[in-house]
Amino acid sequence: MRAPSIIHTEESINYAWKEFVTRDDDVFNVTFPKSGTTWLQEILTLIYSNGDPTPTKTMYSWDRVPWIEQYTGKSKLENRPSPRLISTHLPFRLFPKSFFKTNAKIIYTLRNPKDVCVSLYFFSLIAQFMEHREDFGEFVSLFLSKQMLFDGWFDHVKGWMELKDSPNFLLLQYEDMIKDPKGNVIKICKFLGKDLDDAAIDSVVEHSSFKAMKENEKSNYTAVPDYIFSKEKGSFHRKGVTGDWKNYFTPEKEAEFEKICQERLKDVHVALT
Ligand code: PPS
Repeated sequence: MRAPSIIHTEESINYAWKEFVTRDDDVFNVTFPKSGTTWLQEILTLIYSNGDPTPTKTMYSWDRVPWIEQYTGKSKLENRPSPRLISTHLPFRLFPKSFFKTNAKIIYTLRNPKDVCVSLYFFSLIAQFMEHREDFGEFVSLFLSKQMLFDGWFDHVKGWMELKDSPNFLLLQYEDMIKDPKGNVIKICKFLGKDLDDAAIDSVVEHSSFKAMKENEKSNYTAVPDYIFSKEKGSFHRKGVTGDWKNYFTPEKEAEFEKICQERLKDVHVALT
């Protein structure tokens, strides 16, 4: 599996897969990159603080809900008190083995792959460690290839959908969250057994909005040095919309993408919006 070597090592990935000890009350925020990871990091933090924005304003998102597979994952998570909020981009085949003996919960957020591709294209401009192609059409080919990160979008979704009907698995769609943020926060609370009153739910929605997150220095990645994220070339919180792919895909590239989508997702029952 390919992963940016600036923050991953073979050892850190193996640790996540084979050694990490899952606890019953762990909550995993699982995504293919650019599908809503940071948004869920914010929502989960706010749900567990009962809508109080203090933790989102005082701790970096990557410390609040760390990635288990990154080289800092072990030190950030091993001795953390429960309940732990954990992010991962790992494909299903490399997910912590210990999870399967527990009652821990997984939230998987899915996003239209053409929007994921556009988001990743712009991210690869600002993130100095990412493989980039100037030409968007060439980037689409990279996205569809075996060189793509974390086993690529198709195998990622295919693998994770094996858990689709498990009671401890919640499937969210970025597009639904854009349409109905409050309804989705309520859905997440229900899944996690968190009983927040209406004012707390409104606060979760307010403080996890695109605007609030773009302005929050603890969530918008402006604190990351320029040699890693070049601020000149764009911002992490780029647009936060659905359907932006229409501005970048030519009809030919879209047809090629759709054909591959149909072939590679033929056994997977996910409704893409
Ligand atoms: S990463 O690098 O994998 O952690 O990126 P990830 O957070 O998964 O995805 C980044 C895209 O999500 C958008 N985003 C949001 N959209 C709506 N609402 C909120 N609150 C929000 N926060 C982040 C972000 O802008 C990226 O999408 P694009 O399309 O590039 O704008």
